[in-house]
Order: sequence, then C-alpha cells, then structure tokens
Amino acid sequence: MARIAVVAGDGIGPEVVAQALKVVDAVLPGVETTAYDLGAARYHRTGEVLPDSVLAELAGHDAILLGAVGDPTVPPGVLERGLLLKLRFAFDQYVNLRPSRLWPGVAGPLATVKPGEVDLVVVREGTEGLYAGAGGSLHRDTPAEVATEESLNTRHGVERVIRDAFARASRRERRKVTLVHKTNVLTHAGSLWARAFAAVAAEHPDVATEYQHVDAAAMFLVTQPQRYDVVVTDNLFGDILTDIAAAVTGGIGLAASGCINPTGAYPSMFEPVHGSAPDIAGQGVADPVAAVLSAALLLDQLGHADAAARVTAAVGAELAGRAPGVPLRTAEVGDRLAAHAAA
Ligand code: NAD
Ligand code: IPM
Ligand code: MN
Repeated sequence: MARIAVVAGDGIGPEVVAQALKVVDAVLPGVETTAYDLGAARYHRTGEVLPDSVLAELAGHDAILLGAVGDPTVPPGVLERGLLLKLRFAFDQYVNLRPSRLWPGVAGPLATVKPGEVDLVVVREGTEGLYAGAGGSLHRDTPAEVATEESLNTRHGVERVIRDAFARASRRERRKVTLVHKTNVLTHAGSLWARAFAAVAAEHPDVATEYQHVDAAAMFLVTQPQRYDVVVTDNLFGDILTDIAAAVTGGIGLAASGCINPTGAYPSMFEPVHGSAPDIAGQGVADPVAAVLSAALLLDQLGHADAAARVTAAVGAELAGRAPGVPLRTAEVGDRLAAHAAA
C-alpha cells in the first residue's frame, strides 16, 4: 500500500488537507499517511523550516500531499523558499502540472465561454528560471542599492519539461502545444526555449504547435481560454498564468496541481495552486476542491486510476449541484465528496 507524507502547512492548508484525506480514505481505505509538522508554527517554536532529517524521511514516501505554506507572521520567502521550493528542487519536481477546466455547473466569469469548452493543462517548469535563487544585492539600505535576480535556464532542464509537454499532448485529443515565453525581450533564455521547443516538435509531427509571448498569452487566457490544450512555459510565467487560468475557470479554490518528478527517483508532491489564504483561515469557509483534486492527481500518479476517477466524479457532482451565491463550509464539502466517492 502506498505511503503518503502529508504536509498540511499554514492557514487554510490544514483545513483543506483534512478534507482531501477524508476523500482519499473513502476511495482507498487503510492507505498509510504520515503527517509532518512543518510551516509557520514549527518555525516559531523551534526556528526550523525543513530539517535535513525530515527531508530524508519525506524522500522515503511514495508521494507528498501538501496544503499551503506562508504566513503573515513569518518574513516573506522563509517558508516559501525554505520549505516549498526546497522540496520542489530537492526532489527534482521539474514538471509542475496545472490543469484547468471549466466544470459543468460552474459559472466562470466569462460570458464568452461555456462549460466544457475550457480544458487545458499548463506544464510549468518547476526547478529553474527565476526561482533558482541566483542573484544578490549590493549596498543594502543605501541610495545606491542594487538587487538582481537571475533566471537560470539549462538545455537539459528546458528540454526535459518540453518533452513532457509533447508527450502529454500526444495523449490528448487536440494534440497541441503552445510555448509561452518572452523571446522578444529575454533573448538569451528565450532563444534556448525556442530552439529546444523546435527540436522536440520535430520529433512529434502529430502534435500541432504555436508560440505566444507571455503578455499576449495572459490576454488570450482571459479572452479565449478555449484555444489552449497544453501550454509549456517557464517557472514564473507558469506561476502567473495558472492563477489567471484558475480565475477564468471558476476560481483559485478549484485549481489543483502536481509537482512531478517523472523519473520516480524522488516522490512527487501534490498541492492546490492557492496559498494559505490568511484572510479566510480559521473560518471553515475555504473551498477544499483544489486540495481534493490535487489528491486525485496523486492517486492517479500512484497507479490508482479508478480511485482518482471516483474522486473526480465526486467533484463533478459537487460542482454541478452548487447553487450560486450560497456560502460553503469546508468540512461539509469534504463530507459530501467523501460520501459520493465512497458510494
Ligand atoms: P492565496 O492563494 O493564499 O489567496 C489569494 C486569495 O484567494 C485570497 O483572497 C484567498 O482567500 C482566496 N483563496 C485562496 N484559496 C482559497 C480557497 N481554497 N477557497 C476560497 N478562497 C481561497 O494567495 P496570497 O494571498 O497571495 O498568499 C498568501 C500566502 O500563501 C503567502 O504567504 C504566500 O506566499 C503563500 N502561498 C503559498 C502557496 C503554496 O503553498 N503553494 C501558493 C500561493 C501562495
Ligand atoms: C504557487 C506559489 C509558489 C510559487 C510560492 C508560494 C513559492 O505561488 O505554488 O503557485 O510561486 O510557485
Ligand atoms: Mn502561485
């Protein structure tokens, strides 16, 4: 039986992860989960963010389910970089998979789009780019202060994520990959991405391709999200575009993701796209669907396709049955999803 590590984290993280675990238990009774106390509370208590011993223990699991990290009482970056990004980098989770679909019954904000018309997946590079942490500052707190952040792009890193995007596209109905970058300005990294894309595209004559600059892609995601199938892009562009994709498909409360290491050398990690939402934490009103759908991605990755399909079907029924404007209760949604998935 699969061994799943659970990092509930901060804010609404524990609230939504509790629902995801209810649902996982309903479809895969007896699955072994181990909770890891990481996040703001541990940092305040002990000063630790992610001890090496915990990192080593996490490496021994089949997958990780994560809620959210980040808290207003902790300086920005301490938990985001020290915990979340450290896990993505240490476990070489280079495919940050972020599917977006407009579910039947969900009233998205766009009058031009009907349910079922949006079904896209962003393959966001997960281990390089501006997230690599290169850069520094000089003359801090003086008028001469200078700060740099460098984007790291390797042929190996770029090509492997593009390869994954093409492999995914060739398994999908529309078989199309859109490369999103900013080749007109970021001429070093942009050229590397464009050449790697062309090389991989040449191996996939069955897959249609297009290129868009990221500013245009941000616009088209809002005006014509239907046009996308698989989108492959760098780490930061993918971060931003997937919040847009979430917003146009019913909100960040529905957006799931997988930080995947396709080689299996290290565990993959599954987490909602949203953060710890300090503005609603503790109120029991966070939508757990994003966490539940992330758990479905986890189940699928571990080879439990039937269990994953039951979770996805339960979410479909839940969303189809939601009356507009009626506030939700996190635990009630979790109970309904678990009952539906178990039936
Ligand atoms: P956020 O996603 O936490 O919140 C943005 C808005 O969306 C808020 O109004 C929030 O209430 C709402 N929202 C988010 N999830 C929701 C849900 N499930 N149901 C209903 N509403 C929901 O983003 P933020 O405010 O920019 O960041 C807050 C903290 O979370 C920061 O510390 C940030 O670094 C961190 N963060 C962590 C992750 C992660 O762990 N993967 C992702 C994004 C942000
Ligand atoms: C996300 C988050 C993270 C990111 C932060 C919290 C490091 O915004 O998962 O989308 O930028 O990747
Ligand atoms: Mn983000």
